[in-house]
Amino acid sequence: MSTPNKPEKPQDTGHEWDGIRELTNPPPRWWMIMFHVGWIWCLIYFVLYPSIPLLNGSNEGLLGWTQIKEFKEAVAENDAVKAPYMEKLKVMGAGEIMADAELRNFAESAAKAAYGDNCAACHGAGGEGAVGLFPVLADDNWLYGGDIDTIVETITGGRMGNMPAHADMLEAGQIETLADFVIALPQGTATEKGWALFSDAGCMGCHGDNAQGGALNGDTFSGAANLTDQVWRFGNSREEVLRTIRFGVNQEDVAETRSAIMPAFGEKLSPELIKILAIKVHAMGGGQ
Ligand code: HEC
Ligand code: HEC
Repeated sequence: MSTPNKPEKPQDTGHEWDGIRELTNPPPRWWMIMFHVGWIWCLIYFVLYPSIPLLNGSNEGLLGWTQIKEFKEAVAENDAVKAPYMEKLKVMGAGEIMADAELRNFAESAAKAAYGDNCAACHGAGGEGAVGLFPVLADDNWLYGGDIDTIVETITGGRMGNMPAHADMLEAGQIETLADFVIALPQGTATEKGWALFSDAGCMGCHGDNAQGGALNGDTFSGAANLTDQVWRFGNSREEVLRTIRFGVNQEDVAETRSAIMPAFGEKLSPELIKILAIKVHAMGGGQ
């Protein structure tokens, strides 16, 4: 019996080159199967999916599939998972959200992108701040208070610490005494004379009777720094401290004044987003 692959009498085409004859044997069966599977596959794909480049894009394909559609579907799926959480974030206060472990988790991870987009440029990716410019967020040392509601208030309304320039209010010698006093405070070596001048010069009005800043005095927060700790907003060299006392903070008409402006995000970000950012900042500061 003859099979297509092994015909008993191969047909000779009569062509011959260097002793090699060309026959008319059909190709092997496996090869033919692959060949047919191949073109049928192409045909099906071609009908279902966009495949021929035309003048205005390509043909659509019966399935109507596009990469953009697939992407949008994935985004919608993601939004659907987030929706119930976002609904809760809308109606719940930041404090309530924090008390719910699941929501708190969601908030902290959802805040990552928003923090990177809006805050990291100034406060650093990990909240490390920059000496002289932007306060550290990743510590439990606060100018305005680290409880969740105060942080929400800070982000919503912005902050702008105000310390008057003392160059014209005090004598040069007094300013130097105060600078030495401020530098000695965290080392526990501040003198009576220093404390007296700190009081007379009105520094206590903002920095508190104990020089620990508004946040620890329970006053309405003036943003006045705690001067008794090792955390320095503007550096603790004599030169830096002298500059702060002489020219103050955020004094419009003083050229050498310190600039310390936290922009307000109340108009730019939704209240939900501000809540989750506050929860992230709160967590960065050790949750105190
Ligand atoms: C343009 C720079 C800038 C950007 C952007 C910025 N901040 Fe601030 N932020 C500051 C400055 C400066 C201060 C200190 C203000 C002062 O000393 O009165 C501050 C203060 C704060 C404080 C108060 C810290 C304390 O010790 O009480 C918090 C909280 C804070 N920022 C969070 C954020 C968050 C969250 C974002 C993003 C939504 C953000 N900031 C974006 C510059 C910035
Ligand atoms: C009207 C309130 C106010 C008064 C009065 C005031 N300060 Fe301040 N002071 C501030 C604020 C607000 C800041 C913090 C600015 C910031 O971090 O945004 C500050 C910051 C400082 C700093 C920088 C601390 C650091 O960590 O780098 C020093 C030093 C300082 N004050 C010393 C004094 C002395 C000394 C006096 C008295 C002569 C005085 N201040 C009076 C509000 C005040």
